[in-house]
Amino acid sequence: MGTGYLRLRNVVKSYDGRVNAVDDIGIDIAKGEFITFLGPSGSGKTTTLMMIAGFEEPTSGTIELDGKDLTRQKPYERNIGVVFQNYALFPHMTVAKNVAFPLKMRGAPRGDIARRVDEALDLVGLRAFAGRYPRELSGGQQQRVALARGLVFRPDVLLLDEPLGALDKNLREQMQVELKRIHREVGITMVYVTHDQTEAMTMSDRVAVFNQGKLEQVAPPLEAYHRPATRFVGEFIGDSNFLAGRLDPAGTLLVDGVGEIGGVGPRPGLGGGGPVHVLIRPERLRVPAQEAPTSFAKVVKMVVGGTVNYGDSLLLIGKMGEVPLRVRVSGGQSSAIQEGAVISVGWALEDMHLIAKA
Ligand SMILES: Nc1ncnc2c1ncn2[C@@H]1O[C@H](COP(=O)(O)OP(=O)(O)O)[C@@H](O)[C@H]1O
Ligand SMILES: [Mg+2]
Repeated sequence: MGTGYLRLRNVVKSYDGRVNAVDDIGIDIAKGEFITFLGPSGSGKTTTLMMIAGFEEPTSGTIELDGKDLTRQKPYERNIGVVFQNYALFPHMTVAKNVAFPLKMRGAPRGDIARRVDEALDLVGLRAFAGRYPRELSGGQQQRVALARGLVFRPDVLLLDEPLGALDKNLREQMQVELKRIHREVGITMVYVTHDQTEAMTMSDRVAVFNQGKLEQVAPPLEAYHRPATRFVGEFIGDSNFLAGRLDPAGTLLVDGVGEIGGVGPRPGLGGGGPVHVLIRPERLRVPAQEAPTSFAKVVKMVVGGTVNYGDSLLLIGKMGEVPLRVRVSGGQSSAIQEGAVISVGWALEDMHLIAKA
């Protein structure tokens, strides 16, 4: 995955000539891929999407689709569909007219229009609503109309900017499933924007993690979770513990507040004795007393300061000496652990992920 169908090269956007809202982004998106731009508010996701759509012009850099340079093309010269969070339906037009609009703009033959509007409405399950006006539809239905309108002219790429952001949780999950089904059925390249890591994790072939206008990592969701390239990615995706350490050339890790952990082994780019971040996910920390003995690389004492019960699991928030620690244990294990308790917590070598400190 990742050979370039849609290619961004050194793309920079500055709105004010001083700060770069998008700061030298390069990414290759494969044909048919579902890729998600994930990052906090203000990190440059929408700006990047708008440059792909042609609503914003890059300050520098190039955007190519299928080998053709689009960088200075007008939006209507690109075969790219866009779906926004706020639907942007025409209120005075029926559902059918809304969906027909992009076809009319492109001068499609009249006979084709009716047939393709029907097909697009079938795809989103709204054929029966063709004669209604947007105000007569629920939020979820309006977003499906916007989706049909974005797909009806068979674009090469569909861009979706936080399309489910206005929907409540249940509807959002339902629409996530629906969007994935449509992606499979149509096989179209989709670029999806969200700040919601759960949404990104469940839907995407790959996530592209944005931070302050830069790309921190582009990877399949589980790789970004288990092997984040930067501390930012490790903190943004999922719950995390970050310890400070140093890895010596012989492969022994010295962790602040923990001590030496041998056998970590030399790691490419990390063995110079320089500082490293040690990531351990809370669910990878285990309470040895409640488990069959395994080969722990380290067992430490933790004072439990507080607990959060999720029903299926229990989050223990506490400290190992001065170092804060979060431990997630399964619900069945948790009954005996109370606030103020001192417990043993262990982990294995493979539970640690090391990241070079920038
Ligand atoms: N039209 C605009 N004019 C000036 N600054 C903008 C404009 N649009 C976005 N920005 C700024 O660019 C940065 C990136 O914004 P945006 O791309 O909207 O981020 P995101 O979609 O990740 O929340 C932010 O600092 C934002 O304030
Ligand atoms: Mg945005």
